[in-house]
Amino acid sequence: MNKRFHVTTFGCQMNEHDSERMKGMLESIGYAEVAEQADADLILFNTCSIREKADSRFVAHLGHASAEKKRRPEVLIGGGGCWAQSVKEEVFSQFPFVDVAFGPGQVHKLAEFLTSESLSAQGYFEFEGFAGDLPAKRAREVQAWVQISVGCNMNCSYCIVPSTRGREVSRPFEALVAECERLAADGVREITLLGQNVNAYGRDLRVGGRPVAFSELLRAVDAIEGIERVRYTSPHPKDMREDVIRAHAELPSLCEHIHLPLQAGSSRILKAMRRTYTRDRFLDRVALIREHVPDCAITTDIIVGFPGETEADFVETLEVCEEVGFDGAFTFLFSPRRGTTAAELTEGLVPHEEKVERMQRLVEVVQRRGHERAQRFVGRALEVLVEGPSRTDPTRLRGRSRHGKTVNFTGLAAPGELVEVEILSATSQTLRGEESLVARALA
Ligand code: 5AD
Ligand code: SF4
Repeated sequence: MNKRFHVTTFGCQMNEHDSERMKGMLESIGYAEVAEQADADLILFNTCSIREKADSRFVAHLGHASAEKKRRPEVLIGGGGCWAQSVKEEVFSQFPFVDVAFGPGQVHKLAEFLTSESLSAQGYFEFEGFAGDLPAKRAREVQAWVQISVGCNMNCSYCIVPSTRGREVSRPFEALVAECERLAADGVREITLLGQNVNAYGRDLRVGGRPVAFSELLRAVDAIEGIERVRYTSPHPKDMREDVIRAHAELPSLCEHIHLPLQAGSSRILKAMRRTYTRDRFLDRVALIREHVPDCAITTDIIVGFPGETEADFVETLEVCEEVGFDGAFTFLFSPRRGTTAAELTEGLVPHEEKVERMQRLVEVVQRRGHERAQRFVGRALEVLVEGPSRTDPTRLRGRSRHGKTVNFTGLAAPGELVEVEILSATSQTLRGEESLVARALA
């Protein structure tokens, strides 16, 4: 009988995609995926370490795995991803029941481990660039992630990622276009390009003696027959140049949505975060986006309570949120991460209660502005890519608009279809509507 595996994934889309690659690789060496850990011969965790909460959630999961190992000593337990990388060999002393640990760059080493003679505890933590030839097991039929670079060359003082994913390396242009063509031939209609800093893509490449621009990659992917939607995440505001913004106006498949992480609205705090842009420069990028693509959805990430953030600094964050009117925002309490320079700061630390109080004020502004922004969709017919039944009401359908909004609607559509939906109401989070049956009849 086939060996069976179970993977639990934490963290970002990059990690979810790494898990797809792990699963594809495991299936290629004869393993089959199962839904329950109790049925698996190999229990894997693909971990995240972006904030303290991510760590603690995962450690609780490891407790279950340890119990499973006591019950069935032959089971193999593996930890991959950013947390594993950030604690490296300590994994084995802290968690002696772990058999294999590997960083995000070492997914391919898992096969080597599993097919080797000796299955004694092993750790794999080198940075080797992209192991591109792993077959991915896609979570969704018509949507795919494509990793365009590994690592990050930025030095944001709060962020653990440069130390867990290494220096930035762009994958070759031709290899990426070929991968997207293969996906299109396999029925994929929406591609999300992934990188820690996607719009720095290609600076380290030389094609015909010159670097490649991210916007050129966007053009090449847009030109592929069958690819109807292109997204990317995450860009860095400092690299958000006019060519990329214009591409949103010019390329039919490039969606009207940009996730542009602000992090803080005060230039002083941005400097302490080493974000390399100011409040004005960020607002100027937003103005340029709105000039070329007036209807573009803009979403963001914001950190509250960075060391040294005063009430006045925080008010600047609120002001930027009021002024921009983000379509949505992920908001985080600052969390000191091992090995980062921000974790060493000792002055102006913001007490937890104050962070929480600021967060509440921030969420109020973000939700109110998001709600107001979403009203522009009411009464419009939006193109929706159907993902499945609605999470709250299985008689309805759920999909996503080009703006990245979740749309719950009534209709006849099947998952994977692109349909037109009349929007009837909108909250800051979701749109509600009904499928346009006239459009269906005419299609
Ligand atoms: N504390 C809080 N939030 C963080 N992020 C990254 N590092 C930290 C940290 N140490 C947030 C940033 C980033 C998002 C993915 O997570 O906002 O954009
Ligand atoms: Fe993704 Fe960052 Fe978490 Fe790593 S630490 S999985 S890059 S969110």
